Amino acid sequence: MIQMYHVTKSYPGGVEALVDITLHVPRGEFVFLTGASGAGKTTLLKLLFCAEPPTRGQILLNGRNAARLRRAAIPLLRRQIGMVFQDFRLLPRRSVFENVALALEVMGLPRREIRRRASEALAWVGLEARQAQPAIRTSGGEQQRTAIARALVNEPYLLLADEPTGNLDPDISLEVMELFKRVNARGTTVLVATHNRDLVTRYPFRTVALEKGRLLA
Ligand SMILES: Nc1ncnc2c1ncn2[C@@H]1O[C@H](COP(=O)(O)OP(=O)(O)OP(=O)(O)O)[C@@H](O)[C@H]1O
Ligand SMILES: [Mg+2]
Repeated sequence: MIQMYHVTKSYPGGVEALVDITLHVPRGEFVFLTGASGAGKTTLLKLLFCAEPPTRGQILLNGRNAARLRRAAIPLLRRQIGMVFQDFRLLPRRSVFENVALALEVMGLPRREIRRRASEALAWVGLEARQAQPAIRTSGGEQQRTAIARALVNEPYLLLADEPTGNLDPDISLEVMELFKRVNARGTTVLVATHNRDLVTRYPFRTVALEKGRLLA
C-alpha cells in the first residue's frame, strides 16, 4: 500500500523536513502521524499526495513509484487518494453540494452520476440538510465534514488527513474521528497527522512519531 524507503525531503534553502524515512503502511490500516510543530507531518502527507517530490528515496503507492510518475499521471493518482486539509480549502461561496460535486465534475462524469455520488457522500457525513448552504455559512465542524465528503467522493483507497481536528472543539473532533473510523472499516487506509495527544491515546491505532524530520522507533 504505502512503502517509503529512505525518503529525504529538503526544501529550497536547505531545510531538511524529512530525513531517511522508511515506513510501510499495509492496506486497511489506520495510522496516526504525530510530532511537534515543524516535525515534518505535513511534508510527509504532501509527498504521499504527490504535491511535492522527495529529494531522495523511493515512495511506492500500491506498488507504483510515486517519485517517477510522469506529470500527466499525477491527477489520476491523486483521484485515488483523498486529502483533507487542516484549513479545509473549500470554495466559500459555493454550496456544500457544489464543493463536493466539483471533485467529480473535473472527471467529466455524467450529471446524474455526479448528483448521485455527491448526495451519497454528503449523506454519509450527515450533511444532507445543509447541502444547499454556501460553505462559508456553515459551522467549522460542517466545513470539515464537507471537506471529508469531498475527499471521499471518489472512493479513494487511501485517505490522508492533516490535523483534521485542529480547529474543532473536542466533541466535534471525536465525531470527525468516528467518521474516519467508519471510512477505515470500509477498507480504506487512513493516515491522520495530529499533535492532539488526547486523540491519539483514545484510539488503539498504530502511532508513527516524527521528530525533526526523523522517525522515532
Ligand atoms: N515550502 C516550504 N519551504 C521551505 N521550508 C518548508 C516548507 N514547508 C515546510 N518547511 C519546513 O519544513 C519543516 C517541516 O514542516 P512541516 O510543515 O512538514 O511540519 P509539520 O509537522 O506539519 O508542522 P505543524 O504541526 O506546524 O503543521 C519545517 O521546518 C518547515 O519550516
Ligand atoms: Mg503541518
